[in-house]
Amino acid sequence: MKKLVVLSGAGISAESGIRTFRESGGLWEEHDVLDVATPMAWAKDPEMVLRFYNERRKQLLECEPNNGHTGLAALEKYFDVQIITQNVDDLHERAGSSKVLHLHGELKMARSTADPMMRYEVDGWELKMGEVCEKGSQLRPDIVWFGEAVPAMEEAMHLASTADIFVVVGTSLNVYPAAGLIEYAPAKASLWLIDPNDVEIPINRHVEVIKEKAGKGLDILTRKLL
Ligand code: APR
Repeated sequence: MKKLVVLSGAGISAESGIRTFRESGGLWEEHDVLDVATPMAWAKDPEMVLRFYNERRKQLLECEPNNGHTGLAALEKYFDVQIITQNVDDLHERAGSSKVLHLHGELKMARSTADPMMRYEVDGWELKMGEVCEKGSQLRPDIVWFGEAVPAMEEAMHLASTADIFVVVGTSLNVYPAAGLIEYAPAKASLWLIDPNDVEIPINRHVEVIKEKAGKGLDILTRKLL
């Protein structure tokens, strides 16, 4: 089967009720990144950081995948679909997608502050101060914060380089290194972008733009590909 590699972002979860980051009314309008999404913020005020991610985790438990997620899962019937997501929600997996690589971590997981390899599933929505790993180190959200390395990037670059079809959906392509993945798609690959708003694409190649929300956009893409 042809390899279809997808780079997804917050926009694909918008129709499930999860806010994006940079649009009006987005998360970063209400919260300062420096207060909740950096290692310095964690060192300075871990309670505030835990509160921020606990709220997001609580909301996630009340959300369902939308037609964008299920549309990608359905494409597995025709293509070898590999999703590379910047999203920390589990809506791709809940929609039935079998190959999902999380670049920026997973909201439902926690990890040791001292040892990133020690990961744990969060029980319910609340991660509390005093919850520690076997080494006695405070558990933190298993999220890649600004200024931290992206451990899955090497695998993501490799996956992108094997694409026959490369699809970008629901991301403003503002955050690197994720935004640069499209550059790894081989010259033979067809490139697609699904977004209801204008997105600056960081490459000088033809990209088929479907200016729609994810649900409808995936429908159009599926019809075009088949
Ligand atoms: N369907 C598809 N795309 C949508 C929809 C929708 N229903 N609604 C909004 N969008 C688009 C917006 O037009 C925008 O281009 O989704 C994109 C969301 O962009 P951002 O808010 O910047 O989110 P994202 O690109 O995923 O952010 C990247 O930044 O904050 C960090 O780590 C965080 O993973 C995140 C990274």
